[in-house]
Amino acid sequence: MGNANNLLNVEKIESSFINGEILGNEETNIKGGNFKRLKIRHLLLIPSLLFSNIYRFLPALLKDIFFCFSIIHKSPASRIFAKTRYDELRTKIDVKVSSLAIRAAPTNIKKDLESTFLSGFHVAKLTHVFELDCLLEEALNHSNPSHAGARPYFKDGINKKIENSYSAYYSFSKKNNQIINSILAKDLDENFNYHLSTLAGYVCKLKDITYSLSIVSGANSNDEMHQDTYASVAKGFLYLQDIDVNGGPFEYLEGSYNDAVYRSSETNKAVLKNDTHSSGSTRLRGETLQDAVDRYNLQTFTGPKGLLVFANTAGYHRKGVHNSNKPRIILACGVKRKGVFSKLVINLLSMIKLKLTH
Ligand SMILES: [Fe+2]
Repeated sequence: MGNANNLLNVEKIESSFINGEILGNEETNIKGGNFKRLKIRHLLLIPSLLFSNIYRFLPALLKDIFFCFSIIHKSPASRIFAKTRYDELRTKIDVKVSSLAIRAAPTNIKKDLESTFLSGFHVAKLTHVFELDCLLEEALNHSNPSHAGARPYFKDGINKKIENSYSAYYSFSKKNNQIINSILAKDLDENFNYHLSTLAGYVCKLKDITYSLSIVSGANSNDEMHQDTYASVAKGFLYLQDIDVNGGPFEYLEGSYNDAVYRSSETNKAVLKNDTHSSGSTRLRGETLQDAVDRYNLQTFTGPKGLLVFANTAGYHRKGVHNSNKPRIILACGVKRKGVFSKLVINLLSMIKLKLTH
């Protein structure tokens, strides 16, 4: 199936989309999450399910107290804490702890990593992207799509359905995730692991990345400039098409992750305004958005297929305008999100390991 110069399955998706074959199934097929048959390994998910359910039913004040450094506690839940520097302090602590990932890297690359940490993104170009082709078909045929947070609602703070909005995310099997990683490893060296760790805020590697095939068209809730959560999170976007300014490119406000004062003040404002359409991931709109764009450098990542952009999505980001008859097709990817304590333990152990081995 793999062709030396083409991603045939991407072309197939484009033409079936244009013919209306995919869009026609939108309402019935796409769910908020992936529900698969129960397998033994799913039992391993019980502790984290328990954790998130305890969180869900806890009163707001107790959420703020007990889940202060948890990655799932995106913004202060109580108005009492939203009036304080609670979010600013925990964001500053996360910035400090995340920066330790740089100290667990070799000296000769530290300068580069510091600039990745400050900007909040890292870009690479992949020449072996065409080898991914046969894996795309398998994902399309063997997984149920989800919208993965790219909802056709909530744009501009209004709970109104967006016309002609389409988003489907297809997951890959564990085995195929590792095959994708081995294809990427042909272009990415050890230094990539250090950049990835710098963005994730803890020491991790290429093999820890998982992927989903993302097909989106039109506008969705991800068009709004937003932070995913208060603490560092690494997400990646591997372009399977040439993407220009009208093709829904990934956009990022450079350096915004490090500005704990600004991000937390916007988060507090959203909580105090009871902006539930932010879903805890603070969104910037209107004049505030303009102010943020003036304050930081807006990076629009256009480029050819094979472009890989990794970003710390605790910094403000969005999907750029999609104004094309072709859907935007990318591999969306990332590593596990970790809370501040887990990051601290992982980074300290890696620093000790580096000291002992050098
Ligand atoms: Fe996001």
